[in-house]
Amino acid sequence: MKIVYASRGGNTESLVGKCGYENALKIDTGSEEVKEDYVLFTYTDGYGDIPYEVETFLEGNKDHIKAVVCTGNTSFGDAFCGAGDKVAEKCNVTLIAKVEEDGSDDDVAKIKEAIKALEGPSEDVAEAA
Ligand SMILES: Cc1cc2nc3c(=O)[nH]c(=O)nc-3n(C[C@H](O)[C@H](O)[C@H](O)COP(=O)(O)O)c2cc1C
Repeated sequence: MKIVYASRGGNTESLVGKCGYENALKIDTGSEEVKEDYVLFTYTDGYGDIPYEVETFLEGNKDHIKAVVCTGNTSFGDAFCGAGDKVAEKCNVTLIAKVEEDGSDDDVAKIKEAIKALEGPSEDVAEAA
């Protein structure tokens, strides 16, 4: 599964790194194109808003998104990780996790498991069955 992420201050990038996704694509301007299934990691901007470059990216890449992971800060109260709720609704995909800053070990474990489940059984397992 392709991992695509946006990160302004480094938290989301750090979370992606902690999950071990080394070939992830970083959204810079939003004009990037992805032609395979992907999970989006995004931070939250404004007050529960999807970052501008992510909005732009989604306009051109809505077809292949499979799930979203969102980072935020609980000090924003009801708007905590609002970008994740908005992307999930807009693209009709699962919100895997709402994560505080760059996430805990538990967050990392949960995210990795959920993304693995989205990928389905590996070829080895399928062959063995
Ligand atoms: C201007 C600004 C607005 C923010 N608004 C929210 C928000 O509405 N909800 C939230 O949960 N976090 C909010 N945050 C916190 C960031 O989403 C959070 O720190 C995130 O982990 C940043 O990710 P990054 O370091 O990858 O950019 C905001 C941060 C900034 C600087």
